[in-house]
Amino acid sequence: MIKDYRILLFIGLLGMVFLGLAIRKGFDEDYIRYQKAYYEALGEDFPGPVVKQVNVKTPSSMLVDRCQSCHIGASNPGAKDFDMPLTTHPPIVPGAQEDPHDFNKIGCAICHDGSSRDLDMHLAHGEAHGWIAPLLNGKMAQSSCVRCHAMESGHLAGAEVYELGRELFLEKACWGCHTIAGVSTSSQAPELTDAGGKFSFDYLYESIVHPKANDENSKMPKFDWVHDHDTVFALATYLKGQQKSKLRSDDTAPIGYIKPKADEVRISEASVDAGRALFAGVPFEGSINRGGCVNCHAFRSDDGQLAGGNIGPELTWAIRNRGEDWVKDHIVNSRKHAPDSIMPTFKDYNDAELDSLVMFLSTFGYKLSADSEGQKLYDTYCVSCHGEDMNGQGIVSAMLDPYPRDFSRHQFVVAYEDRFKNSILNGVSGTAMPAWKNVLTEGEIETLIEFIKDKTLDEQKKNFKRMEVSLPKIGDDDRRDWKNKGKVVEAGDVERGEAAFQQACTSCHGKLANGKGPNAYNLQHPLPRNLLNKEFMNQEGMTDERLYQSILLGVAGTPMPSHDHLSDQTIIDIIAFIRGNTEEAK
Ligand code: HEC
Ligand code: HEC
Ligand code: HEC
Ligand code: HEC
Ligand code: HEC
Ligand code: HEC
Ligand code: HEC
Repeated sequence: MIKDYRILLFIGLLGMVFLGLAIRKGFDEDYIRYQKAYYEALGEDFPGPVVKQVNVKTPSSMLVDRCQSCHIGASNPGAKDFDMPLTTHPPIVPGAQEDPHDFNKIGCAICHDGSSRDLDMHLAHGEAHGWIAPLLNGKMAQSSCVRCHAMESGHLAGAEVYELGRELFLEKACWGCHTIAGVSTSSQAPELTDAGGKFSFDYLYESIVHPKANDENSKMPKFDWVHDHDTVFALATYLKGQQKSKLRSDDTAPIGYIKPKADEVRISEASVDAGRALFAGVPFEGSINRGGCVNCHAFRSDDGQLAGGNIGPELTWAIRNRGEDWVKDHIVNSRKHAPDSIMPTFKDYNDAELDSLVMFLSTFGYKLSADSEGQKLYDTYCVSCHGEDMNGQGIVSAMLDPYPRDFSRHQFVVAYEDRFKNSILNGVSGTAMPAWKNVLTEGEIETLIEFIKDKTLDEQKKNFKRMEVSLPKIGDDDRRDWKNKGKVVEAGDVERGEAAFQQACTSCHGKLANGKGPNAYNLQHPLPRNLLNKEFMNQEGMTDERLYQSILLGVAGTPMPSHDHLSDQTIIDIIAFIRGNTEEAK
């Protein structure tokens, strides 16, 4: 309880001083200054300050919009030459006699976002840190037309940037990885149905230009057109328009707008031309452009000209390497063959569309002349993945998982003589390493092997020898169990194997054995193997003996370490566990 009334008096006086200051400041508020300037520019008497407010009813709330307290001349054609913020609004609908939108009814924030109640410019423009709806200035505001107009298809004058973005989303193959409800269904990447509700325009723009800005290991590809501002701007405008809680709903659309039917013309008869169009991502005879392989894949014309993107492998030899059925399967579901593939899934392709693509890919006939030398063979067929320095870091390698083999590590090149050749002939299942036996002759493959060895090995390195061990048979003595001498090896036990795996292997291979352990991305090339990769684990040559050797001795020339502290029984148990994972799911 305050007894000394002088203190109370003092506090009261102080309060009145502040109130006085606040009122004085009120007279000088920016919007009032602008309003005075406006009437001065018009040559009229200042009628006194008003907070110009429009209440816009939306299905979810009431938008209180006071922007025109400062932007006072927006609807006045006579204010064209006035300074900001007093000036006339620029035309929204190009060529229209009069803008169809009445700012006195819909305000400004419905198109431009911002914080519409605020009368301080910075706050109103949504510059407060973390404000979810920063100002959309200029043509960015086209992302808001969809709040009232139906824009799934068709053309709305003044929304050209948004519409370009809508087309690019299909042409650039974004739809193959990202779901936008009603447009695409794919589970490769985060859904973007509410991208505009969740993210600012700048974030969306940045995510396209620098996919690794937030996450260094992001599997969002960096396309080679991202330096083109107009393309990225249009895509970001379209994505900003994707908001779940947008104003428009079938019965509350402010204009009796009839939702145009998204009439989807599909390719119904296979042809090379249709395939070419899908590959390029352009419409074909009225069909929409759902393709865009060329954003990621290059190919060679008959005279050897290379064109296309560098995110996936060159497809010049795809049909010859893999066969038609495999390729069709891969287009629809790449992860069936390569579980960690980032390739978009073009799930909704019909047979005619798949056939068209295969027909188009089959037109690639490029082949090197028969007497080409090692370097030429390597540069044509191998360099894009295995790299100029043979270190497995060719231009398309970043988006592949597993990475291409690093031949600069001579241990690998020397340790696996038979496998080396066999893998070139038949490919490595479950990875991007294709089979070359239908493209290259045996002689060419020999030339290539010699060339790789020549580049990576000197006399001394050639002498590297990997230890030889063989898989113990059931009933053999456990040669590696030092504690229990004389113990015999029994059939592998899945549960014991899992326990041992969890102890010794998860830091790299992950708890699930999918190769994504906490250390996975700290390792040097290559990544830990995804041991759930069925095609890889069940291919010919992937014997228990190989697994035993790889676990005990490590994989030569890779970060897979040796585990010579494990007993034979433990390794056999682990193999049973690993096998169980890929058999179960068969
Ligand atoms: C306090 C006065 C004030 C209020 C309130 C205000 N603005 Fe502004 N606005 C300005 C001024 C001044 C400028 C020009 C200064 C500048 O370019 O930064 C401007 C510029 C703009 C621009 C152009 C921006 C650019 O970078 O080209 C847009 C768009 C805009 N305002 C929209 C709005 C919207 C929408 C609202 C309501 C949510 C609003 N303003 C509220 C004063 C205001
Ligand atoms: C129907 C949607 C819509 C409404 C409502 C709207 N604008 Fe705009 N505004 C646009 C579009 C679209 C442009 C870009 C025009 C162009 O350059 O093609 C634009 C441009 C502008 C610009 C100049 C370009 C820049 O630098 O950003 C200002 C300033 C602006 N608007 C302020 C306002 C203010 C203030 C209001 C409210 C009185 C308002 N707008 C209401 C859509 C709208
Ligand atoms: C707040 C809802 C709202 C927003 C947001 C909005 N519009 Fe409109 N639009 C209307 C209304 C209402 C009309 C008037 C319809 C009438 O006169 O019957 C209209 C009419 C039009 C027309 C003329 C009629 C037509 O359908 O061709 C065009 C063009 C147009 N708007 C373009 C745009 C563009 C471009 C944007 C985004 C920059 C936009 N609108 C944003 C409500 C909106
Ligand atoms: C190969 C599949 C793939 C394709 C094609 C693709 N993206 Fe992505 N995108 C991703 C993945 C994966 C992420 C998640 C980022 C990460 O790895 O953290 C992502 C993230 C994003 C994000 C950020 C979303 C968020 O939640 O942070 C945006 C925006 C985006 N992509 C836009 C696009 C656009 C636009 C295109 C077409 C030009 C496109 N993407 C094509 C895979 C893809
Ligand atoms: C966003 C980039 C991207 C797009 C778009 C894309 N792919 Fe791929 N594609 C890849 C990547 C990365 C790989 C390697 C991983 C794998 O095998 O899936 C790949 C692999 C392939 C392969 C296997 C090549 C081989 O021999 O192993 C084929 C065939 C293929 N893509 C065809 C297509 C076709 C046809 C389209 C268009 C309908 C397409 N891709 C669109 C990125 C893409
Ligand atoms: C599309 C990319 C790509 C191209 C083109 C490619 N490779 Fe590979 N290659 C890979 C990948 C990925 C691996 C890793 C496979 C794995 O994880 O076991 C690999 C592995 C290998 C291996 C090791 C196989 C093994 O059993 O471990 C050899 C040898 C090889 N490649 C040789 C070649 C030669 C020679 C060429 C050219 C004729 C070539 N590669 C072209 C992607 C490619
Ligand atoms: C330091 C990280 C690391 C640890 C720990 C590790 N691995 Fe690996 N592992 C790798 C890498 C990297 C590869 C890929 C080698 C390659 O590309 O051929 C691999 C490959 C493998 C392979 C495939 C071998 C082949 O012949 O292709 C198996 C099986 C395997 N690891 C099992 C295990 C088991 C079981 C353990 C625990 C006892 C384990 N790994 C511990 C990193 C590790």
